[in-house]
Amino acid sequence: MKIPFLNFEPAHTLIRAEMEKAFLSVYDSHWYIMGKHLQKFEEEYATFNQTKYAIGMSNGLDALYLALKALGIGKGDEVIMPSNTFIATVMATSFTGATPVFVEPDPQTYLIDPSKIEEKISPNTKVIIPVHLYGQICAMDQVMDIARKHGLFVIEDNAQAHGAAYNGKLAGSFGDINATSFYPGKNLGALGDAGACTTDNPEFAESLRVFRNYGSNEKYVHKVEGHNMRLDELQAALLSVKLAKLDAWTEQRRKIAAQYDQVLSGIGDLILPKTADKATHVYHLYVVRTKHRAELQDFLQAKGVGTLIHYPTPPHLQQAYQHLGYKKGDFPIAEDLADTVVSLPIWPGLKESDITYIAACISEFFENV
Ligand SMILES: Cc1ncc(COP(=O)(O)O)c(C=O)c1O
Repeated sequence: MKIPFLNFEPAHTLIRAEMEKAFLSVYDSHWYIMGKHLQKFEEEYATFNQTKYAIGMSNGLDALYLALKALGIGKGDEVIMPSNTFIATVMATSFTGATPVFVEPDPQTYLIDPSKIEEKISPNTKVIIPVHLYGQICAMDQVMDIARKHGLFVIEDNAQAHGAAYNGKLAGSFGDINATSFYPGKNLGALGDAGACTTDNPEFAESLRVFRNYGSNEKYVHKVEGHNMRLDELQAALLSVKLAKLDAWTEQRRKIAAQYDQVLSGIGDLILPKTADKATHVYHLYVVRTKHRAELQDFLQAKGVGTLIHYPTPPHLQQAYQHLGYKKGDFPIAEDLADTVVSLPIWPGLKESDITYIAACISEFFENV
C-alpha cells in the first residue's frame, strides 16, 4: 500500500481535457501577461469569494506584501499575527520594514486567540492579520470588533481556507484587503506559483494593480515604485477550470475529514481537529496531535503512508528572525503545537479504503506505544 501525503493525480485526471483546452486557449491567443484570461479569473474569483475585486498576484507571499504596501504599512509600524503561522505572513511584514508582533493561538482551534490580541496593541499597531490556518476560519466577528475599536486595518491570510465561512460570510471577504495563495497544493491550486488579493475598496484595488505592475497602470508611465508581481495568463486560465470544481472538492475534503473523525476517535493520545463555533472548515489539512509524533510518522512511513508537519518550528524561533530577540518559551502554545502536530493525507480522490487503512495503521501503532 502506498498513500502519498498529497496526490494530484485523481483530480488532475478528471479535468485533463478542460486543462488542455485552457492551455491551448492561452497558447493560441499569443498574449501571455495581463490579458483576458486574467480578467476572467479575477471576475470569477471575486464572485466566488463574495468581494467586489480580486487582483491576481504572482504568489501568496507577494499578495500579503502588496496588501500591506497598499495600506501604507512600513518602518515603525507593527503588525499583529498568530505565533503559529507559516513564515510568509511574517516575511511579507518584515519586507515592508514593519515589525511582526505575535499573538498565541487558541489551543483548541490553532487559530489566533482574539482574547489575547488587545494586550499586544501599541500606538504603533496598524494591522491585524488573522491566518485561517489548516482550512478553518478565525473568529472574525471578534477580530473585526477589536480592529474597529482600535482603528486598525485587517488583512486576512486566506491561503489555506478558500471557501471557509464564519457566520455564513466567506474567508477573504472580511478584511480591508485579503491575501491568498494558489500554490499547487492549496485547496485551489495552480500548476505553479500564483496568488491573489481580494477587497471591496476600489482605491485599494487600483493601488494593488499598480504595485503589481511596476507602479504603472498606463504603459511606460510609472506613478510609484512598483514590482513585477503579476499572475500570468496561463495560470489564470488553469485556475478558472479548477475554481469551477472547488466546491465539489471541498465537499470531498469534508467527507474525508468526517471519516477520519470517526475512525480515529479515542485512539491513543490523539487529539483530532475541532471546528470552532459559527465556523465552517474546508480541511486544507487534517492535523492531529500526539506526543509520539516522530515514532508515529516513522511507523506510517514504513507502512507506505506519507505525513507532513505544518509547521515544525514557529517563526519566532527561526534563524531569519533571531534579531527580534525571542527565545524558546516565549510562545508556549505555538511551540507545543510545533512539537506535536502532524498532518495526515487529505486530497480529492483519497478513497474510503485508504482512510480505513491509515486508521488501522494508526491503531496498530498505538497498541504498541
Ligand atoms: C498561511 C499561508 N500564508 C501564505 C502563504 C504563501 O503563499 P505562497 O506559497 O503562494 O507564497 C502560504 C502558503 O504557502 C500559507 O500557507
